[in-house]
Amino acid sequence: MAGGSGVAEPASLSCASCGKPAHLQCPKCVQLKLPREAAAFCTQECFKASWNFHKPVHLKAKSSESGIDTPDNEGWLYCLKKGQTRTAKLPYFDWTGALRPYPISSKRIVPAHIDLPDWAADGIPKVEPNSDLQHVVEIKTVDQIERMRETCRIAREVLDAAASVIRPGITTDEIDLVVHEATIAAGGYPSPLNYNFFPKSCCTSVNEVICHGIPDARKLEDGDIVNVDVTVYYKGVHGDLNETYFVGNVDEESQRLVKSTYECLEKAISIVKPGMRFREVGEVINRHATMSGFSVVKSYCGHGIGELFHCAPNIPHYGRNKAVGVMKAGQTFSIEPMINAGVWRDRMWPDAWTAVTSDGKRSAQFEHTLLVTESGVEVLTARLPSSPKVFPWLNV
Ligand code: MF3
Ligand code: CO
Ligand code: CO
Repeated sequence: MAGGSGVAEPASLSCASCGKPAHLQCPKCVQLKLPREAAAFCTQECFKASWNFHKPVHLKAKSSESGIDTPDNEGWLYCLKKGQTRTAKLPYFDWTGALRPYPISSKRIVPAHIDLPDWAADGIPKVEPNSDLQHVVEIKTVDQIERMRETCRIAREVLDAAASVIRPGITTDEIDLVVHEATIAAGGYPSPLNYNFFPKSCCTSVNEVICHGIPDARKLEDGDIVNVDVTVYYKGVHGDLNETYFVGNVDEESQRLVKSTYECLEKAISIVKPGMRFREVGEVINRHATMSGFSVVKSYCGHGIGELFHCAPNIPHYGRNKAVGVMKAGQTFSIEPMINAGVWRDRMWPDAWTAVTSDGKRSAQFEHTLLVTESGVEVLTARLPSSPKVFPWLNV
């Protein structure tokens, strides 16, 4: 803007639509005292033509009037009610450890060419909760298995991309952006996005967070541990895996926790074969975790997976569980033990997603999607030669 007065004359404003000199102001913007630059138009015709793009400006102003949004945080707000509500103030809670939620960024966009699961638009899974596959364990067809292999490989590559950017100073929101972009670049949809209103494209669970942590504005700190849980929807099927990473230099007890959790999953996978009872998985995990002086989370279990994100079988990770049934070739499911440094009990943050340890001590998790084969098991989300070498016990 030319001139040194600092007060813009009406004619010095240009049309928000076409750029020509503007002589009109949107009356709604004037009423809401919104910035004059975005409210200026040359003619009624231009104003009408740009209405669909201009209208959302008013909505944002309304949310800031009600105190839900503020102009200076650019839409970064704390998550409440599973993702259905946001708030500018840190919610009150009897926090169990040192970690706190941070504001989360606005919803990420998925391009039109990506095939969507049925919750993408409104947050509500429709097929999944009503399916027979919540009760009977599906035997996958050759075609389903081939698609599961492809999708699980993509999910692995997406998780590896996330792992490669982890360092002190990066926010979990930035990790989520990497997961989101990598998933879409591969032609997939990030299954967590809007699943029961989950607001982000992956779960990031730091320190005392057991699972389902929401990526937010908190910067990872030297000494943190962080689990990244990725699920990809591609060619009509889901692939699900997670790993827990070290941020900078981590204390020895946390290193022991993460390594023991990795071993729990390896030992559980080693018993998978046709005829094995699902309830044995928890026995193996419980034995190794307790032997190491750790405890096993009970509230979250492994699950069947395929065309549905979560279905039968339900696979507890703790001992003396009542899981029903035996494994059969052609079944696909996840095993994803969550192991705590202290007590097994979990509590829920006010966002209604983040599960934390009740004593505030740390928790670790690893997850794979598995296929039961005639001879044993195929780890569909197995590490690749290209996977980053981030676990010292895997480096020979
Ligand atoms: N990936 C998680 C699992 O292992 C589920 C995340 S659901 C979400 O089952 F909504 F929290 F993303
Ligand atoms: Co899972
Ligand atoms: Co997962």
